[in-house]
Amino acid sequence: MSETTGQNAFRADVLSGKTAIVTGASRGIGAAIAQRLCEAGANVVLCSRSTEAVGQIADTLQGKGYTVLSMAADISERADVDTLIEKTISQFSQIDILVNNAGITRDMLLMRLKDEDWNAVLQTNLTGTMYCTRAVLRPMIRQKGGRIINISSVVGLTGNAGQANYAAAKAGIIGFTKAIAKEVGARGITVNAIAPGFITTDMTAQIPEQNQHQLLELIPLREFGHPEDVADAVCFLASDAARYITGQTLQVDGGMVM
Ligand SMILES: NC(=O)c1ccc[n+]([C@@H]2O[C@H](COP(=O)([O-])OP(=O)(O)OC[C@H]3O[C@@H](n4cnc5c(N)ncnc54)[C@H](OP(=O)(O)O)[C@@H]3O)[C@@H](O)[C@H]2O)c1
Repeated sequence: MSETTGQNAFRADVLSGKTAIVTGASRGIGAAIAQRLCEAGANVVLCSRSTEAVGQIADTLQGKGYTVLSMAADISERADVDTLIEKTISQFSQIDILVNNAGITRDMLLMRLKDEDWNAVLQTNLTGTMYCTRAVLRPMIRQKGGRIINISSVVGLTGNAGQANYAAAKAGIIGFTKAIAKEVGARGITVNAIAPGFITTDMTAQIPEQNQHQLLELIPLREFGHPEDVADAVCFLASDAARYITGQTLQVDGGMVM
């Protein structure tokens, strides 16, 4: 998690008094989202499968004076998700913002793709998003409002060779976002997706350097994104400034896909 020292429009307490859950908050984009939501004044619940890793991020945020709770939860397991929601409600009495960020890749050309790698990616990236979303709807409906932000990918819009499982899951998230936006709009709940392009994290560190150079040529802004770029978009969609936006997919990709 980087130290953010630049000007930030969301430093003011635009999310003061709100409670947010961020899945996959132990590193990369999720850790940056957790930090940005804290900076905006929210109480933040962080989860990932590793108690230790997510606990370290939470400790750092707590050390800065923010109110956080961290716990191990595997979003692909419904029972873990139920516990995550129960503990959040018991600690903070409400859930205003859910950021479905946790995700994995198991890349392989389809001819050689194993069933288990197809299933793991769909179960975590798509079904996990569904479990978390379904579980927060009741408290959000009771509160007469809420914000759900799903982290998709530009790969869900364009497809990518070697990522049939990931592309299917991320495209599925976009359809899911639109369906739920229609289901719960009348309850004051907005549901939007963010489609990041190439963001420098552990997930993209595995891409060979030569391929990274080729990718850079495809990005009009000629640089890879930072986790904080996605975090700023999340903070906007979670804020009142985005009250009239729902069912949308916001690309944070330096113009890579248009
Ligand atoms: N980086 C990019 O360029 C890029 C581009 C487009 C979209 N995205 C999407 O952005 C999101 C974050 O990506 P990232 O680059 O930050 O990835 P990352 O560095 O690999 O981090 C993934 C996070 O998800 C957690 N996680 C994985 N499986 C989980 C599960 N079953 N339950 C709970 N937590 C789980 C991981 O923690 P544990 O391992 O401890 O569980 C970790 O905190 C993902 O949805 C990814 O698909 C990334």
